[in-house]
Amino acid sequence: MCGIVGYIGNKKASPILINGLLRLEYRGYDSAGIATMENDKIKLMKNKGRVNNLYKLDGIDSLVGTIGIAHTRWATHGKPSKENSHPHVDNSNSFAVVHNGIIENYHELKNFLVEKGYKFVSATDTEVIPNLIHYYFMQDKIDDNKKILRAVKNTCSDLKGSYAIEILSVYNKDKMIVVRKDSPLVIGKGNGENYISSDIPAILSYTKDFYLLDDNEIVELSRNDVKFYNQDLKEIQKAIKSIEWNALSAEKDGYEDFMLKEIYEQPRAIRETIGAKLDNGTIEIEDLDFSKDYLKDINKIYIVACGTAMHAGLASKYTFEKICKIPIEVDIASEFRYRDPLIDEKTLCIYISQSGETADTIAALKLAKTKGAKTLAISNVIGSSITREADYSIYTHAGPEIAVASTKAYTSQVVLLNILAMYFAEKLERVEKDIIKNLKSDILNLPSKIEETLKDTNQIYEFAKKVYKEKDMFFLGRGTDYAVSLEGSLKLKEISYIHSEAYASGELKHGPIALIENGVTVIATMTNKKLLEKSISNVQEVVTRGAKVLAVTSEDIKNDGISEIIKIPKTNPLISPILSVIPMQLFSYYISKEKGLDVDKPRNLAKSVTVE
Ligand code: AGP
Ligand code: GLU
Repeated sequence: MCGIVGYIGNKKASPILINGLLRLEYRGYDSAGIATMENDKIKLMKNKGRVNNLYKLDGIDSLVGTIGIAHTRWATHGKPSKENSHPHVDNSNSFAVVHNGIIENYHELKNFLVEKGYKFVSATDTEVIPNLIHYYFMQDKIDDNKKILRAVKNTCSDLKGSYAIEILSVYNKDKMIVVRKDSPLVIGKGNGENYISSDIPAILSYTKDFYLLDDNEIVELSRNDVKFYNQDLKEIQKAIKSIEWNALSAEKDGYEDFMLKEIYEQPRAIRETIGAKLDNGTIEIEDLDFSKDYLKDINKIYIVACGTAMHAGLASKYTFEKICKIPIEVDIASEFRYRDPLIDEKTLCIYISQSGETADTIAALKLAKTKGAKTLAISNVIGSSITREADYSIYTHAGPEIAVASTKAYTSQVVLLNILAMYFAEKLERVEKDIIKNLKSDILNLPSKIEETLKDTNQIYEFAKKVYKEKDMFFLGRGTDYAVSLEGSLKLKEISYIHSEAYASGELKHGPIALIENGVTVIATMTNKKLLEKSISNVQEVVTRGAKVLAVTSEDIKNDGISEIIKIPKTNPLISPILSVIPMQLFSYYISKEKGLDVDKPRNLAKSVTVE
């Protein structure tokens, strides 16, 4: 997922396309490209790196075409490189395609096309699309003006996953086709010209009139017309929406801040991270080929990372222990790299980094390599430094995270780590199959449960308004509820500048309870039924001493002096942090807003910590 722009009109397309891409830069990307129709032929210009690199390409000024498509890529399949950049064309150069999203079943489609004689030049999932369109186009013996539309429709019914696609074809030189499913795309209506974009701001300077596309709609654009079709190619009517936003609020899709937008993007980020990994009988993770013999021999797993990424490791440790039965230690990268950890060739070291550029995490990985351990990186950025160092790399598909405070990267990391643990467990066969089967279905249900959790946030907002002036807060929990409390406490510190501590509830009596006095705020998370009684006793201990308690729970608990009970959907305690972190993210967010702080760019912090 990253950015798409398109233009069809009477002006030179390339400057409009490049300008649009520059306006989409805030979404993050690793490569860029454009295709225009030049004298009835498709001309491509693409490159790894910044949009500005396009200007350095020979011949960019010679592009005079008035129809074109453009793309910024956030790689999901295949490293950032010129070959993998979009647009992609079919073997005969008749169809050019840009695509945002992921085609989950591209292996299957690629095999089908290879059998039919198609050749592939990139490592992307996208390249199946132009070739499949070409295949269907050639199969179709009816030669009418809907031939390309039919080829696109047939292609889309074969695609599994998410996509926003623009198509340019030499068979219909004065038209352009776009289609979307679970990936954003809008159409801007001009006078004798039309625009396409992933979001409104990129083209807001050209028009204020937009068509907002729904899933599975196929659109055919010409200079003077925009025609909408449903999945059966029946023409449908759509109303124009006039947009009053200014460019900045539009970049945030109407959300006030990137952090809030990213909190709400979590269902999609998780769906995309799960992808097709759980679709078959046994779990498959691209680029991983661990054998049962190797896994059986592992003496220890280290999970090493910084900040939120380290918290994702802590939240997932319980699953590795429970279903893989391998000793596991989660460590802070800056500690690990200097403490001479016990590592040998039977140790597996997993490194988590959203950016893939965190200096301490990379150094900790290099250390393990010198001691002969196998290394596996988990990142959100394909081709990032850490993935180039590691023996194996797997990816969260959270899309670019812009707010400094990590939200969707954390939940995607916890999901991916749980899937990794299940992948190991299926091979190790140390626990009953049903345990893994149930966890799989609980993971598949997470996106809709997150949507439910995000539906009504008023209670959290009201509580935040009551306590935003406080200086200290405490987060309590047991098991995975403790792990998520550490993340909740970090979020609060980062964006609201309130000091907070997270404690395992059982530790209360061993010290911190001395700090509980009248009016102190405590966030208590209780999602594990087995530990509920114990956790409630701890809550009572703080309530008796005058604490204001915000309880986050999936159980039916009595009010008994608790100020606010936030009910979240029930799920397997092993993955409950993915749900229980959401009220905590929102709590910190609302406090930060009440205090009038810069939510997206908190003081003293950088998104990517590339120095020690
Ligand atoms: C998260 O909210 C923080 N900004 C920070 O702790 C972050 O998670 C940490 O710096 C690690 O970054 P990485 O995942 O890009 O390596
Ligand atoms: N999955 C495609 C690729 O890796 C598109 C990624 C994107 O949305 O930019 O090329």
